[in-house]
Amino acid sequence: MYYKELESFPENFLWGAASAAYQIEGAWDTDGKGPSIWDEFSRIEGKTFEKTNGDVAVDHYHRYKEDVAYMKKMGLKAYRFSVAWSRVIPDGEGEINEKGLAFYENLVDELLANGVEPVLTLYHWDMPQALQDKYGGWESRKVITAFKKYCEALFIRLKDKVNYWVTMNEQNVFTSLGYRWAAHPPAVTDLKRMYAANHIVNLANAEAISLFHELVPNGLIGPSYGYGPIYPLTADPSDVLAAENGEAFNNDWTLDVYCKGTYPKFIMKQLERLGIAPEVTPEDSRILKAAKPDFLGINYYHGGTVRQNRIEKPEESSSDQINTEKNFSKTDPYLMQPKEEQAMAPEVPMFNGIENPYLEKTKWGWEIDPVGFRVALRRIQSRYDLPIFITENGLGSLDELTEDKKVHDDYRIAYLNEHLLEMKKAITDGVEVIGYCAWSFTDLLSWLNGYKKRYGFVYIDRDEHDEKTLERIPKDSFYWYQEVIKENGENLK
Ligand code: BG6
Repeated sequence: MYYKELESFPENFLWGAASAAYQIEGAWDTDGKGPSIWDEFSRIEGKTFEKTNGDVAVDHYHRYKEDVAYMKKMGLKAYRFSVAWSRVIPDGEGEINEKGLAFYENLVDELLANGVEPVLTLYHWDMPQALQDKYGGWESRKVITAFKKYCEALFIRLKDKVNYWVTMNEQNVFTSLGYRWAAHPPAVTDLKRMYAANHIVNLANAEAISLFHELVPNGLIGPSYGYGPIYPLTADPSDVLAAENGEAFNNDWTLDVYCKGTYPKFIMKQLERLGIAPEVTPEDSRILKAAKPDFLGINYYHGGTVRQNRIEKPEESSSDQINTEKNFSKTDPYLMQPKEEQAMAPEVPMFNGIENPYLEKTKWGWEIDPVGFRVALRRIQSRYDLPIFITENGLGSLDELTEDKKVHDDYRIAYLNEHLLEMKKAITDGVEVIGYCAWSFTDLLSWLNGYKKRYGFVYIDRDEHDEKTLERIPKDSFYWYQEVIKENGENLK
């Protein structure tokens, strides 16, 4: 579709930025906070980049007022942050830690006083270690009860102050990295266990949503899903079919449960044949169907490209030579691909992931695909017809602080500008987008890439080995986004 003029962003569009507790707060054992699985995991030799951890992170716990002051300066309309479960309930299920709860209430009050709408994420990957030790974390249904108790404490305390709530952050990513690739805690490599844990997360998500609707009838809640559209490598119908499989396997698998309360049939049948399907009781189905999100949070970084598996279609034509799998990351969280050598054997894989020959990549090998953002928005709107809140999108890069304390991140500005333009086109197409939170507000700890992979509008003076001054320094992109917000996106080019 070609438009001579794009429609404007809605008047109350939530121009925002995001973060997550473990990645920014620090104060890992302050004021009664219990350890989370990330506090423990990051201490295991070789698990994180140059042994980085979130013990201090960017010290947001002590500097939140300064951070909010920068948000005000920027004119930010919304700020998405997550709550550390073990700060609020140190052992995950017992006594509430008043100091922990008070920290988040103070943060929310500070945001509101500065005209910033809080968007609160309940779970951004930091399960209390006590629940991991006692029950095996998401592998036990007992954790659902604990999660509900934790959510209830926050709903009751903050229901009159927080309008937008996110349940799970990127369930697809934390379950696959945690239970399939062993790159995140609890470092398991077992597909059956992954699907079982994933089902329990689905139930916890659904129960939290239903409870929220009972307790906070005027608020809005939804999960944040890490969505990447799947493309066929060629117009060969067998590649197109592979892409259908990829879309169902990667995306429908989670989003259908969130939005329809049912698992997609084709994928469930495959998993049943392989003996790795989750056990879904009639009561589970009732719980999943009863919960209806008010919006879908979408984190968009990139999609994936697939072709028919090489068992049914061995390398044969010269056009195959353009396709190199050598740089394709098997642990790419956005493309969960059942390859021959993995547990799907001896079954025929539904697709093979492949590099997209048309797309540039970031320094960390993530494809840069703004048009894919529009494709994503269109597909999600057509399939689920819910308002969409972009809860993450951004560019991880190496930033350089100049001697006069500036960061000229024109590459980030270009990246965000292109993505916002595609979002504007999607809105003109008819997609209902209620807000956009760039990842991230300040620089922060990348789970596996330390402090050098920077995403923020605000530079933080620290690196992997030295906490330095932790000074906050707005980058060029800060002032650019400030203008975008002021103009409600009319200045995007
Ligand atoms: C998302 C997560 O997957 O991607 C964030 O929700 C994360 O927490 C972001 O930081 C970027 O990932 P990375 O690996 O580049 O830090």
